[in-house]
Amino acid sequence: MKKPNTLCFLFVSFVCLSSYSNHQALAYIDEGLKQCLIRNSQNQTASIFNDIYTPDNSSFVSVLQYPIKNTRFNSSDTPKPFSVITPKEEAEVQAVILCAAELNLRVRIRSGGHDYEGLSYTNPKKGDHSPFLVLDLINFNNVAVDSVEKTAWVGSGATVGELYYRISEKSKSLGFPAGVCHSIGVGGHFSGGGYGMMLRKHGLSADHVVDARLVDAKGNILDRKSMGEDLFWAIRGGGGNTFGVVLSWKVQLIDVPETVTTFNIVRTLEQNATNIVHKWQSIAPNLPQELFIRIIAIGQKPQNTVQAIFNSLYLGPADTLLKILQQSFPELGATRQDLREMSWIESVLNIDGFPNGTHPKALLGTIVNNGKPYYFKGKSDYVKTPIPVEGLEGVWDFLKENNSGLIIMSPYGGIMEEISESAIPFPHRAGNLYKIQYVMSWSEAGKKAYESHMSWIRRLFHYYTPFVSKSPREAYVNYRDLDIGRNSMGNLTYGAQSKNWGVKYFKSNFERLVRVKTQVDPQNFFRNEQSIPPRSHIVN
Ligand code: FDA
Repeated sequence: MKKPNTLCFLFVSFVCLSSYSNHQALAYIDEGLKQCLIRNSQNQTASIFNDIYTPDNSSFVSVLQYPIKNTRFNSSDTPKPFSVITPKEEAEVQAVILCAAELNLRVRIRSGGHDYEGLSYTNPKKGDHSPFLVLDLINFNNVAVDSVEKTAWVGSGATVGELYYRISEKSKSLGFPAGVCHSIGVGGHFSGGGYGMMLRKHGLSADHVVDARLVDAKGNILDRKSMGEDLFWAIRGGGGNTFGVVLSWKVQLIDVPETVTTFNIVRTLEQNATNIVHKWQSIAPNLPQELFIRIIAIGQKPQNTVQAIFNSLYLGPADTLLKILQQSFPELGATRQDLREMSWIESVLNIDGFPNGTHPKALLGTIVNNGKPYYFKGKSDYVKTPIPVEGLEGVWDFLKENNSGLIIMSPYGGIMEEISESAIPFPHRAGNLYKIQYVMSWSEAGKKAYESHMSWIRRLFHYYTPFVSKSPREAYVNYRDLDIGRNSMGNLTYGAQSKNWGVKYFKSNFERLVRVKTQVDPQNFFRNEQSIPPRSHIVN
């Protein structure tokens, strides 16, 4: 690929922008980018001009907004990119990166757009109108399954639903361990780890990545061999938008049995939910690896109670599962009628909430909020010793107070106990009983609703402090939370102390991630508010 001529285009520094109106400045930037792309145009990159969307283009809004799940980042005052680019060829991605680097433009990479803080398509800082472009990989959604080798190459812009469906088209005995919601993008999901209902048997999605194609900050395309083992280690869980644009991933598929079993058993406080949840904390992480029982806890307003939904996948037949439950978890009171046998791909649909009998092709679709606003905020924690009954009772008070909040508890143990903390950047392995995800969602617009719902989840998170991991208080990077790691001024820090988000997400792997980042992207071209900084950018 031709290197852009750095002299032939004089470009604005952000300081210069203040002398222009915002509109003029953005038009100027857009023009600069187009000129750079023209200079870089080769036959294979010429089509990129059909894939650039600026605000004067009638498709701009739909192209920008189609994957946005969180209305918190989809309002009129949400900072918008000056351009969304949806390349179709690898060479086009290279050209965009080279030109953005030359013009000192900030790039936000987007695959499925599920980032909890909207970092793949907006500036989260209030009042930050600095220009950025969105590089959207929607067209990199090819999935090529090799059922003999038991591998697949999957484009970053594919959803996990597309991956599941394409695998099931080729084989009934192969599957892949990734997230529950089918619309999650592979690009961000694998970059942060990625887990689902087979976590205890097969670990994370990133544990199964065996090769990848990546465009680095110099515009080179690298694969596992040419990027080297350090960078290959870093991209498997070290967080998105940090080391380059991952174009595609080669994954090792896993064997799934012909018959699996699911159940959804609901217990309210009046049905002894507190004691069952209390028991679950020490039972669920020690069950056979094939069995994953998570709990979704929600409040019920008129009844002033809490429902604990025991939602499960067992990689085997119902009769065997029933014996395990009767022997190891009799408190749950499961019966044969509670258990449903099906194929693995049917279980994917079932656990994702599709009605019985839905064709697996539904996994190719995306989720739309039916035009309804859906604001949400998420957070995460890790639990290493069971929370006492009185502690759980305090949690129920929160859920009764606001029925829009929910808590999801996902058991660890199994293979997560066996994989070393440093195998990939995702460090939360042995010693965890379970992970908690807190979610608060609401539909009313406005500051008042925002503040009361955000206050609820922050108070709940504070309440959990004595019960969860400490020094650091660990968190899952794919449940990105900009609240963590702020300094006393409320700003995000890049420090290496335990209060820093980097150590919370990656524990001692943070140090190795910084080393890799310093080597491969010392200028910090690929960055967001929680990307790994090169060493020179760390401020304690
Ligand atoms: P998005 O495109 O927003 O990217 C996320 C981050 O990765 C951004 O920083 C982005 O810049 C970067 N990035 C994206 N593509 C990249 C690429 N090709 N190269 C480099 N960087 C890239 N998680 C989980 O483990 N299990 C689960 O079951 C679920 N379920 C779930 C449901 C719902 C409704 C949501 C909103 C989220 C989840 N998640 C989850 C969390 C999910 O794993 C996380 O948000 C992922 O980062 C989403 O990846 P996307 O590509 O969709 O996001």
